[in-house]
Amino acid sequence: MKISITKSSNSRLPNVDFDNLPFGRTFSDHMFVADYKDGKWGNYKIVPFGKMEMHPAMMGLHYGQLIFEGMKATQKEDGTPVFFRPQMHAERLNKSAERMMMPPFPIDDFSNAIHTLVALDKGWIPKNEGSALYIRPFMFATDEFIGVRPSSTYKFVVFTGPVGPYYPKPISLITEQKFIRAAHGGFGEAKAAGNYGGSLLPTDIANKKGFDQILWLDAKEFKYVQEVGTMNLMFIIDDVLVTPSTTGTILKGITRDSILKICENKGIKFEERLVEIDEIVEAHLDGRLKECFGVGTAAVVSNVIKIKHGEVEMDLPPIEKRTIAAMLKSEINGIRSGRIKDKFGWVVPVKNIETISV
Ligand code: COI
Repeated sequence: MKISITKSSNSRLPNVDFDNLPFGRTFSDHMFVADYKDGKWGNYKIVPFGKMEMHPAMMGLHYGQLIFEGMKATQKEDGTPVFFRPQMHAERLNKSAERMMMPPFPIDDFSNAIHTLVALDKGWIPKNEGSALYIRPFMFATDEFIGVRPSSTYKFVVFTGPVGPYYPKPISLITEQKFIRAAHGGFGEAKAAGNYGGSLLPTDIANKKGFDQILWLDAKEFKYVQEVGTMNLMFIIDDVLVTPSTTGTILKGITRDSILKICENKGIKFEERLVEIDEIVEAHLDGRLKECFGVGTAAVVSNVIKIKHGEVEMDLPPIEKRTIAAMLKSEINGIRSGRIKDKFGWVVPVKNIETISV
């Protein structure tokens, strides 16, 4: 694999206020770009971050062949830059690609691309625990054609940017009983742009009612808990962590998987199963619902403070009384920072650029 590198001549890094990082507005100096043509990926390059030219008939703009990933690099306490479970992100990208009839991006090339890119822009990785360099790989169809069929050409791009927390405050949720996020047989499990686009109108309605996000229910009976558009959802009922199983309509979150493995390792009881919203209401009324939180790459672990379902408005226990979400967040952040031993082999040091053959 060969990556041609054109370095930016004018770094924007000195202008970044690392103590004040909103999510998703600051972008590092470089980006990786690759092209798929004649059945193979090639033309690998790293160039200064900037605008890309596109043809108005480019298929990715029209029929939704557009997928993405969200992953993070952080700095350990000793200054080593590390990725968190990069292989799993590469694999999930290719699962999404398969569902959207797009070509897989070779896992080794994915790895070399992110190592080279992040090594080059490692000065952009924030130092504070809880902040990170967010990495956004994405792929889209580039044929200049507006008939409906899979494209024969694609672009794969990775850019990065330092971020603070996605949800700086605890969030409120409202269940949705008209709109759905994903149905069985659909593409809810893929990290496809359309899953997010379709959530915007119902979310806007929820926002106007005073809620931050929607708690999506299943598409058939509006009975089972699914996820919250940008996160998987977890509940603590009595002393058990309960989360919906991933049955094809829910994104297989990497933070979700990490938390379940931490629970397994620490002997915290957990259940992955169908979760009825009525069960959550009952547990709340009985005083057994101790915590509710969303988990995701961008959000890490974000507390839910209120849930409205139909006429029932549940004010959940005060954040100070909760212990599990805080412990899980601290475990994930601690494994990333090196404060807690990485028993799982999740943390992968960013290779030194001199050692990467590009
Ligand atoms: C992530 O957690 O990386 C996500 O995919 C959420 C993103 C849409 C902001």
